This record gives sequence, structure tokens and C-alpha cells, in this order.
Amino acid sequence: MELVIKKDAGEGALSAAAVLARLVSQKPECVLGLATGGTPVPVYRELVRRHQEEGLDFSRVTSFNLDEYLGLGPEHPQSYAAYMREHLFDKVPVRAAHLPDGLARDVPGFCAEYEDRIRRSGGIDLQLLGLGSDGHIGFNEPGSSLASRTRIKTLTERTRKDNARYFGSPGEVPKHVLTMGVGTIMDSRHCLLLAFGEKKAKAVAEAFEGPVSHMVPASALQWHPQLTVILDEAAASHLTRADYYRWVYDRKPDWQRWE
Ligand code: F6R
Repeated sequence: MELVIKKDAGEGALSAAAVLARLVSQKPECVLGLATGGTPVPVYRELVRRHQEEGLDFSRVTSFNLDEYLGLGPEHPQSYAAYMREHLFDKVPVRAAHLPDGLARDVPGFCAEYEDRIRRSGGIDLQLLGLGSDGHIGFNEPGSSLASRTRIKTLTERTRKDNARYFGSPGEVPKHVLTMGVGTIMDSRHCLLLAFGEKKAKAVAEAFEGPVSHMVPASALQWHPQLTVILDEAAASHLTRADYYRWVYDRKPDWQRWE
């Protein structure tokens, strides 16, 4: 595990964009796993800037999003499909962008087909992840199987409360979602998890310094062979070994740093 602590979310987002940009430059036909929510917004802003000002080319990239609210079609303003168009795809065209279908009628059939699409694309090279304040990745809530695949999940009250800011009130947040499973995420060749702000500090410490447990689904990433975690100081504030992580990163050669 590589743990990078940046001064604030702005700097963390620039580092995360550097991870994505390096892959897209080195492997223009790469497969990206993408996340939504508040955390990646400045990352996508920087990718749009790199595309428009520096010519970073995404035209051969294939992407798969982690999750979607069940019952929301792509035209619904709170759907993750709409989010992705607003923050990335309207400005940075990719070759093919896949999202779970919030209106799928045959949910198990759709989920199996989504897994199949990921496999047929050659698998995800780099999976971008946020972190729920309850330790979820994707929408794999506490108690999720660490071997799970894409499927329907029920959101916790806490997640519905966290996401109420987009809908008006927790009661308006859909109860069900389609999400890649923890096992699906673990199959990605490189996982990049971002967490910013004090609200994430407890989940960060539990996920990366606590035991592996399905009660903290992000802790499964301790088993991932290539994991990069980018935090700001506030999100790192409950880590007992933060000084060591800083010391290690500060001594890395330039080619191992995400600037
Ligand atoms: C979003 C996703 C979620 C979020 C997490 C954090 O596609 O899969 O796991 O990454 O809920 O959300 P924010 O970034 O809004 O704090």
C-alpha cells in the first residue's frame, strides 16, 4: 500500500489526476473505473484542464462506473450518469463509457452482463474510489461480502443522510443501488482511493490500520497488490503512523511521486 498525505483536498486532487493522466498517456487504450460523489469533482476538473490545455487524449479510453441509483434513468439530474456527463464526458469524450443501468428490469441479468462487459474489455487498469464515512467503497456497505460482484445493494441510513445534500432530504435518496462488488473492485490492476476531510478520518484509520473486516469494506483493499491512497491532512488525522507515511513519500524518487 502506498499512502500519500497532501496538505489539502486541492493538492490531493492534483495528485490523483496525475495518477490517471500518467496511465492515459502511457496506455491510451486503458480501461478506467470511475467514481462519483463530492471527492472526485476536483480530479475531473483537473483532467478536463489537462485535456483542454495540454491535449491529454481520452479518445481511446473505455470507462466503467462503480455504481448507480436504482430507479434513476440517465436523464435524472441526480443520476450518476448525469453527474459523469456534467463533470467529465461532456468535455472529455471517451471511446466508450459504461454505467450500471438504474432502470434495468432484469437486475441480476444486467449485473452479470456488466461483469461480463468488464471482463471482455480486458479488465480495469485503474479503479478510482472514494470512501464512505461508514467505510464503504462503491456502494458496498458494511456487511458486504468481500468476494461480492456487481449486484443490487440497500443503502444504510448513514449513506442516505450523507448523500441527502444532492437530493434535499435523506428520504428522497433512493434506497437501492447497483454497485460493483468488492471482488469486482479487487480485480482492478491498480486501485486509487481518495479521502478528504475530517469526516472520513475514522473510516480511513479503520480501513488502512485496522483489521480486514466486511464491517469496513474498504479494509479489503489491504489485500490489493497495487493500492494508492491519497488523503489530505484532515482525513489522515486518526492514523497512528502518519509520520512514517509522510517520511516514506518524501524520500521517493521523482518517478514514484504523483505530482
Ligand atoms: C460513488 C461511490 C461512493 C463514494 C462515497 C464517498 O461512486 O462509489 O463510494 O465514493 O460515498 O462519497 P463522497 O465523495 O461524496 O464523500
